[in-house]
Amino acid sequence: MKLKDFKVEQWMNENEGQAKYNLTDTCASSFSLQELLDMGELDPSSILLDYGEITGKKSLRQEILNLYQGKDPDQITTTNGCLEANTLVMDTLLEPQDHVITCVPGYQQFVSYPESLGCTVSLVHLDLAKDWSCSLDDFKNQITENTKLVILNNPNNPTGTLFLLPFLEELIAVCRKKGIYILCDEVYRDPEHLESISDLYERGISTSSLSKLFGLAGLRLGWVKGPRDVIQKINARRDYVMISTGELRDALGMIALQNKEKILQRTRTILQTNKGFLRSWLRAHPDFSCVIPKEGTVAFLQIHGMKDSESMAKRLLKEKGIFFVPGSCFDKEGYMRLGLGQDPENFQAGLKELALFLKSVKPL
Ligand SMILES: Cc1ncc(COP(=O)(O)O)c(C=O)c1O
Repeated sequence: MKLKDFKVEQWMNENEGQAKYNLTDTCASSFSLQELLDMGELDPSSILLDYGEITGKKSLRQEILNLYQGKDPDQITTTNGCLEANTLVMDTLLEPQDHVITCVPGYQQFVSYPESLGCTVSLVHLDLAKDWSCSLDDFKNQITENTKLVILNNPNNPTGTLFLLPFLEELIAVCRKKGIYILCDEVYRDPEHLESISDLYERGISTSSLSKLFGLAGLRLGWVKGPRDVIQKINARRDYVMISTGELRDALGMIALQNKEKILQRTRTILQTNKGFLRSWLRAHPDFSCVIPKEGTVAFLQIHGMKDSESMAKRLLKEKGIFFVPGSCFDKEGYMRLGLGQDPENFQAGLKELALFLKSVKPL
C-alpha cells in the first residue's frame, strides 16, 4: 500500500518549532498537565499503568456520549486521536474499487488514504464565491454504483465550511437510498452548536478527539461513534494496531470531559476575541481577505497577488518568525491556513507583523 506524503503534517513537523507567532495551529491554546489535574481530583501516582478497559473505560465512553444525543456506550470506541479514528473507519469500511466522495480544499487524509486502499476518490470543490460552500447536487452528481462512503469534515479544515442540519438531512436522504455511509470528522465541532452525523443517520459515523476545542492534542485521545456493527468491526481491528488507549489517558480524558463546559467556554472566548480582531484587521488591510467561519478554529486567509505560498511561508518564518501552513499544502495557491484558537495577544501581534512585512515586500 503506497501512501502519498501528508503535506500539512510534514510541513508542521518540519517548521513548527521555529515559530514566534504560530498563526496556523488548529488547536485551542494547550493546557498543561498541571492545569488539567487541577480541574479534577485525580492522584496520578495512584494510576495503575496497565492496558485498562480495551475499548476505552466504560465511564469515559459514557462521558463522551454527553457530547451527543445517542447514549449507547457500545457505539463508541477510543483511539489515538481523531486521525487514527478516521483511519480505522476507512480501513474497516473500504475495499479496493470502492468509490469515495469528499471535499477540497480539505484534510488530505480523506483523499490520499482511501486512494492508498485502492479506492477511487471524487472531489467536491468548495467554492470561495459561495463562502466556501457547495451544493447537494455537487455530491449527487458524483455518486456511482460503487460509492461506499461520503467523507465530510464539519467544520472543514482549512476553509471553515459548515454543513448545517438542513443540508445534512438532504445529504442523508440521498445516501440512505443507496446505502452509502457518511463519515464526518467532527474534530472542530462544538457540541452545543452543531449536530453530529452519528445522531442523525443510521449509517453516520462521527470521529473526534480532545485535540482541538479541548486544547489537549498531546493526550492523543480520540474516538469513533457509529453504528454498533461498524464499531464492533473497528474493535476487531484495534486489537491489531493499538489494543487500548490505556488507564492514564482514559483517566485524564475523563477529567477534561467532566469539565467540558469550562474548557469549551474558554475556547469560545478565545475564538470570539481572535475573530473580532481579525474582522477589524481585515478592514484595515485590503490586501487580505478571509471568510471568517462561524464555527471551528480554522480559516483560509487569502493574500491578494501571492502566487507562491510556500516561498512566502518560508520567508515569513525565517525573517519574522511567523508560521503558516501555505495553501500549497492544500493544493490551493494564494492562501495561508489561519488558526484562530491560539493566545489572542500572540495572534494579534502576529497579524500586525504580517501586515507590516507584506507591505515591505510588495510587489509579491
Ligand atoms: C480534520 C482533521 N482531522 C483530524 C486531525 C487530527 O486530530 P487528532 O489530533 O485528534 O489526531 C486534524 C488535525 O489537524 C484535522 O485537521
